[in-house]
Amino acid sequence: YAPRVPISPLNLDVQLDYDRQISQLEAVKGASRRPLTLTEKILYSHLFTSPEHHWNLDSIRRGETLLHLRPDRVACHDATATMALLQFISASLPNVQIPTTVHSDHLVVSRDGAEEDLKRGQHEHREVYAFLSSAAKKYGIGWWKPGAGIIHTTIFENYAFPGGLIIGTDSHTPNAGGMGMLGIGVGGSDAVDAMAGMPWELMCPQVAGVRLTGQLNSWASTKDIICKLAGILTVSGGKGRVIEFFGPGTETLGATAMATVCNMSAEIGSTSCIFPYSESMARYLSATKRSAIARLASGYKDILLRADEGSDHYYDDIIEIDLDTLEPHVNGPFTPDLSHPLSELKDAVSKSNWPVKVSHAMVGSCTNSSYEDLYKTSQLIKQAQSAGVPHVKTPFLVSPGSEDIRATIEAEGILQTIRDAGAVVLSTTCGPCVGQWDRTDVDVKGRERNTVVSSFNRNFVARHDGNPETCSFVTSPEMVTAFAYSGRIDFNPITDSIPIEGSTQELRFTAPTSVELPLAFTTGQDLYQAPVHNASQLSVDIDPKSERLQLLKPFDPWIPGSTDSMPVLVKVRGKCTTDHISPAGPWYKYRGHLENISNNMLLAASNAFVPEDSKLLGHTVHPLTSKIDLIHEVARDLRDQQVKWCIIGDWNYGEGSSREHAALEPRYLGGVAVIARSFARIHETNLKKQGMLPLTFADPQDYDKIQPGDRVTLVGVEDGELLPSKQATLRVTNRTGAFWEAPLNHSYSEGHLKWLRAGSALNHINHIKQM
Ligand code: F3S
Repeated sequence: YAPRVPISPLNLDVQLDYDRQISQLEAVKGASRRPLTLTEKILYSHLFTSPEHHWNLDSIRRGETLLHLRPDRVACHDATATMALLQFISASLPNVQIPTTVHSDHLVVSRDGAEEDLKRGQHEHREVYAFLSSAAKKYGIGWWKPGAGIIHTTIFENYAFPGGLIIGTDSHTPNAGGMGMLGIGVGGSDAVDAMAGMPWELMCPQVAGVRLTGQLNSWASTKDIICKLAGILTVSGGKGRVIEFFGPGTETLGATAMATVCNMSAEIGSTSCIFPYSESMARYLSATKRSAIARLASGYKDILLRADEGSDHYYDDIIEIDLDTLEPHVNGPFTPDLSHPLSELKDAVSKSNWPVKVSHAMVGSCTNSSYEDLYKTSQLIKQAQSAGVPHVKTPFLVSPGSEDIRATIEAEGILQTIRDAGAVVLSTTCGPCVGQWDRTDVDVKGRERNTVVSSFNRNFVARHDGNPETCSFVTSPEMVTAFAYSGRIDFNPITDSIPIEGSTQELRFTAPTSVELPLAFTTGQDLYQAPVHNASQLSVDIDPKSERLQLLKPFDPWIPGSTDSMPVLVKVRGKCTTDHISPAGPWYKYRGHLENISNNMLLAASNAFVPEDSKLLGHTVHPLTSKIDLIHEVARDLRDQQVKWCIIGDWNYGEGSSREHAALEPRYLGGVAVIARSFARIHETNLKKQGMLPLTFADPQDYDKIQPGDRVTLVGVEDGELLPSKQATLRVTNRTGAFWEAPLNHSYSEGHLKWLRAGSALNHINHIKQM
C-alpha cells in the first residue's frame, strides 16, 4: 500500500489514515464474520472510542442504537454558519478540533448575471462576510468567499474522499456519496459538537440497497435514477435509511454524475446515500490534484471502500434499477416525488392545469452544474445552432457549480456557446434554487401561475421565487436545455421536433454524449481563505448595534418547577416544518441575530386555538389577556412576565430543513417544552440541544383533548425523576380547575439529560471543559 497522504491538498497537516479505520472496524467486528455493507464499514470505522465508549457489532441495532461518531470534517454554508459559529464562540474553545469549512453560497441574490449579482451581494452582506472571515481566521476554519462555488461542489472538488465521513449544515451533504464518502446533513448544534471534538450522535440507520445493472443510454442520465427512486419511495421513504448503491451499473457512471444521485437523495428523506469505490472516482480525484489519494484508495477498495461480498443479504430492502431501460424523468410540480417518465409526461400535462408554456429554464445548483452537465448543455446548443436556431425560446439561466468549473468552461469556449444562445450566466451560488431570485418576468406578488423547469433538486411550493403558483419541474440539464428551445413542458426530445421560424426544416435533437471530465481543469480566481493556526490573539468583531449579528448569551440551567402550570402558547394544527417554525426568504439576513430572527417564530403555523376559517397563520390567543396576537409577540410578553410556556405539536413536528433556529427561538422566548404526537428526528435533537423538553403523547389521541385556556404541568421531569425509557406524566388543568392526566414518552439518553440540566448542550460542553 502507498504511504499515508494528506486528507486534502488544503489540509496538509491531517493524514488520511485507512489503516486506523480498518483496525477500528476490526475492533468493532470482534469475532464476527458477517459481511458488512459499505455504509456499516464507514460508520463503524468512524465510531468515537474512549474509555466510556466501546462498540460491538452484535450489540448495534439499526434504528435503535445511538452511534457516537467522529466525522472527518464539518462544512457549513453562510446561511447556517453564522449561528453555528456564534454557538461555537459560546463554547469558548480556542479552535476547531476537526477540519471545518464555511462556504458563501446562499446569500447572493440572482438578478442581473454573475458579475453584477456578486458585486451587489458582497456589498449587501459585507457585515456577515467580515464576521465569517474573522471567525474563520480565529478558530482555524477554511472560508470560501462568495463566488468560490456552491458548498457541495467545492467539497467534492477539494475534500471528498472514498471511505470518509462528513457532516454539513445542509440537507444535500449526501452529495459526497458520489465520491464514496458518507455525507450527512445536520443542524448547526450538531456541527458545533463535532467542531468542538465531542462525539456526534446518529441513530444507527437502516441500509436500503439499490442494485444497478446495465448502462445509461440515449437521453437517460443519473438524474433519472434519483427521479425514478423518488417516485418509488416518495418524500419520506428514505427516512432513517442510507441508500447504498451496488451492482455492475455503478462501474459505468462518472463521479459527478453519481454525486447528482446522492445529492437529490435528500428529497426522499434519507439519512445519506453512497456509491462504492469505482475507477471514475480515481479519475476525478486525479483531475482535481488528488492522485495520491486515488492511488492510496485503490489499495483499500475491497477491504474498506466497497461492500463485502454477500452483504446484500444484510440490506433492509433491495430495489432493482436497470439502466438499459431507464427513461428520462421529469418530476413535479410542487413535490419532487411526483415522477413522470418522459413517455408519460405529455399525457400528465394535458390532464392537469399546469401552464404548458415554460417561463424559465434553469441549469445549475449543487445537483447538476458539473463540467459534464454544462458540456451536455453546450452540445445541444451547438446542435440547435447548426440547424439554424441561434437562440433559446425561453429565458435560460445557467450557473456553474464552482469557480474552477466556470474557469474551465470559459477557457474551452463552452460558456461563450451558452451565452451565444441567449442564456444569462449566473454566479456560482445557490440563487433561484433557494429562493434568492429577484424575479421580474412574472407577477410574483400577484401569484401569477407559470411553469419553470430546472436541473435543481427541490421544487416545493414557492421554493424558487416565493410564488405558490409557480409550477416547478426538475429534470436533467440536457432535458432542461431541450425545454429551453421548445418552450413547452409537454415536449419530448426523443419523438418531437421544433419548428424553425422562416424555414420548412425542423430542429430535432439527438441525445448528447457524456464527457465526464475536461482534459485539465483550469484554476479560477483564488477565493479561498486558508485556516490560520495559533490565531487565538485575533478578535471577532460584532457591532453591538448590528441588526444581523448578535453574540449568544448562555441559556439558564434547568430550574426545578419550570413545568408547573404552563400556559399552552399554541396548539399547532397539521404539518409544521422548520419552515413554518422559522421561515426563510427575507429572514435569511437575521440568521446570525437570535433576537431579531425570533420575530418569525411560528409565523407560518396554523393554530388550533384560532378558528380555521380565519386563515390566520402565526397567531394565537394570549393566555393571560385572551387577545389574539402574533405568536412570537405573545411568547415574548409571557417571557418578560416570567411565565414559562409550552407548545403542543401535531405529527412529525419540525420536519424539513435542519435549521436549529426552529429550536433556538422558542427557547429564547421562554419556552420549556414541546409536546407533540411525533417529532422529526433532527428537530427533536435540536430541541434537546437547546435545553427544551421534547415529549410525545403515549396515546396520540390525547392531542385532541387539549383545549384553549388549559394549563399544563409535567410530572416526573425533574432531576433524578426523568430517566431513559421512563415515561413522564402530563397533567392538564382546565379553566374550571378540573384536570386529567396522560403518559408521555421521550427519547432522552443519559447524555441528553446532561444537556437539559445544564440548560443546553453548549453549556454542558463548557462544564466539561472547566472540569
Ligand atoms: Fe444551494 Fe440549492 Fe444546493 S440551496 S446547496 S444549490 S440545494
